[in-house]
Amino acid sequence: RILILDFGSQYTQLIARRIRESHVYCEIHPYNITLEAVKDFQPKGIILSGGPSSVHDDGAPLSDPEIFSLDIPILGICYGMQLMAHQLKGAVEKADRREYGPATIDIDDAGDLFLDVEKEGVRVWMSHGDRILNLPQDFKVLAHSENSPIAAMGLPARRFYGVQFHPEVVHTPCGKTILENFLFRICRCQSSWTMKSFVESAIQAVREGVGEDQVICALSGGVDSSVVAVLLHHAIGSRLHCIFVNNGLLRKGEAESVQRIFRDHFQLNLIYVDASKLFLDRLAGIVDPEQKRRIIGNLFIELFEKEAGRLANAKYLAQGTLYPDVIESVSFKGPSATIKTHHNVGGLPERMKLKLIEPLRELFKDEARLVGRELGLPERVIMRHPYPGPGLAIRIIGEVTPENLAILREADAIVLEEMEASGWYDRVWQAFAVLLPVRSVGVMGDERTYDQVIAVRIVESVDAMTADWARVPYDVLGKISNRIINEVKGINRVVYDISSKPPSTIEWE
Ligand code: XMP
Repeated sequence: RILILDFGSQYTQLIARRIRESHVYCEIHPYNITLEAVKDFQPKGIILSGGPSSVHDDGAPLSDPEIFSLDIPILGICYGMQLMAHQLKGAVEKADRREYGPATIDIDDAGDLFLDVEKEGVRVWMSHGDRILNLPQDFKVLAHSENSPIAAMGLPARRFYGVQFHPEVVHTPCGKTILENFLFRICRCQSSWTMKSFVESAIQAVREGVGEDQVICALSGGVDSSVVAVLLHHAIGSRLHCIFVNNGLLRKGEAESVQRIFRDHFQLNLIYVDASKLFLDRLAGIVDPEQKRRIIGNLFIELFEKEAGRLANAKYLAQGTLYPDVIESVSFKGPSATIKTHHNVGGLPERMKLKLIEPLRELFKDEARLVGRELGLPERVIMRHPYPGPGLAIRIIGEVTPENLAILREADAIVLEEMEASGWYDRVWQAFAVLLPVRSVGVMGDERTYDQVIAVRIVESVDAMTADWARVPYDVLGKISNRIINEVKGINRVVYDISSKPPSTIEWE
């Protein structure tokens, strides 16, 4: 296990990703965790992340200096290296020139860290204002760049290393080699973190944690809740009760496919609640997006509580919380910040006095997908695009009516069919249709039409924080448009949304 201490770098999660890709388990913790916590973690190595601060700032984030006395290998990256130099009595100064972006370094002393890395003109990614002026005692220079005479430093006898650049980003092509040298040569880690081993220990942990009790889980058909449900089913079988609420805002065939997969195939205890009519009644006349969200969220909780209330023996609620949700809230701001709860069931565990189980809280999204594959979930579920809880309701601009829903559902199904048929589905983040409250004139046969407009939205993204419209070939867009106009009654025009996020958002509401 590797412990990553987070000093607030935008790249900290990337460090964790890279390490796990090398099949070594790691966790990110705030820089100021106690020495006891560090010892309890029993890390084979510690990585100090980068961060926006300068060690000379008032209140600069410092870790307990005793971590340097634990006889554990430490790698400092960027701010982490400066911190190491500062805490081990070297000197850090403001550089004349700040260095951001690509740079090249020459290796002076390869040692273990730079083994199998070129010696000269090594391309790396820099992003720093300070630099090391004096090495701490006994350290030596391992690499330099034009602007940083000390671009890497090390004290091999104590297994302390620092790099001024960022080995975790793809713009440092040899970064993986450097990190793996740290993991396998310096820390002597084993490459044993695989999804198979994760699944086995997660099942074991659930069995031990839950004992003979019953567990409830809200199943949405999305990746995270599906993986949690199947994992728990493997662990405790019929003592898991999944509640699936059909809010009438699902995609075409979704309610049937969820039942087919989870009840028929996996034989899960599935409680299916068809509340389409109730949701539609409450949404009547509502046009404000946030009001739609509130109504849908609250009604979901109401129904979920009612169903769960029938399961008197249930003591636990299982949720598909992922690692980014956990660190986003605990990192840097300090361990006191509260952990983000899932949109759909926020506040439920407290109100229902249920204890939470979150078996995926150590995983990144792509790792959760691998777990799903390991558990035999169909590829369609594993690779499914994100789908918002309020569903089609926030893709109908204006009032949600049964007629509008029927139109949008058909158009949406065509978008998805054509994305899959063309092989584009797996290459984008999300693809969907939006129904606009606009009428335009068209001509069909010899007749004038005056119908509604569908906007097609297809975006690329890695985390939904930023997104760009996908450059899908004209042929594919043409086919989508053609089919929607011909097959969906009530639509005579299709437009493609070419806005990026920011300043737009992915959804229209
Ligand atoms: P925006 O529109 O904010 O969307 O760029 C970012 C991501 O979040 C999804 N989204 C939601 N998911 N409830 C959800 O569960 C919501 O109310 C909601 N609104 C947006 C959206 O689909 C995209 O993936």
